[in-house]
Amino acid sequence: MKRPIVLYPDPILLKKSRPVVDFDEDLKTLAVDMVDSMRQAEGIGLSAVQIGDLRRVMTMDERFDREEKGEATILVNPVILAAEGRESCEEGCLSLPDVREVVERDFKIRVRAQGLDGREVEREYEGILARCVQHEIDHMDGKLFVTKIPAVKRLLLKPRLKELEREYKASHRS
Ligand code: NI
Repeated sequence: MKRPIVLYPDPILLKKSRPVVDFDEDLKTLAVDMVDSMRQAEGIGLSAVQIGDLRRVMTMDERFDREEKGEATILVNPVILAAEGRESCEEGCLSLPDVREVVERDFKIRVRAQGLDGREVEREYEGILARCVQHEIDHMDGKLFVTKIPAVKRLLLKPRLKELEREYKASHRS
C-alpha cells in the first residue's frame, strides 16, 4: 500500500533508525509499502523513515532507467564494507521536492545487508546505485543530503528550503 512521503522539515527525518531484529510479516508489509511508495513517487530509492518508520530498511530500483520494472531491491541493515573512488553528481531526494545539488560521494562500494528473511548478502554497486545506497544510509542516520554540501551552496538553497518549511507549517497547523 502506498503511503505518503515524509517531507522536509519533518523532525522524524533527523532521527536515527534502529537495526531490524525481527524478520517478520510486519517487515514484509513495510517493504511492500516502501516499494509501492517509491514507485508512485518515481524515486530510485527510499528509506523507511521517509514513510515514517524508523527501521533500517531501504528499497532501490536497480532498473530505474527502464520502462519495464523488475523487482525492487530491498536491503535491511545495510553497511558499507569498502569504497573506491569519488564522484560528484547532482542529487535529489523525495523528501526535498525540487531541491537538487551536486554531492561528492564514493563511486564504488561493497555493501553487506540482510534480506527480508534475515539472510546476509553482499553486493557491489557503482555510479548512481552506489550513490543511492549511500544517500539512503544517510537517511537512516538522520542525515539529509543538503547537509553534505558546502555552506556557500547551501545558502543558495535557502529560499527553497524556507518555502518547504512554510508549506510544512501550513499543512501541520491544527
Ligand atoms: Ni532521500
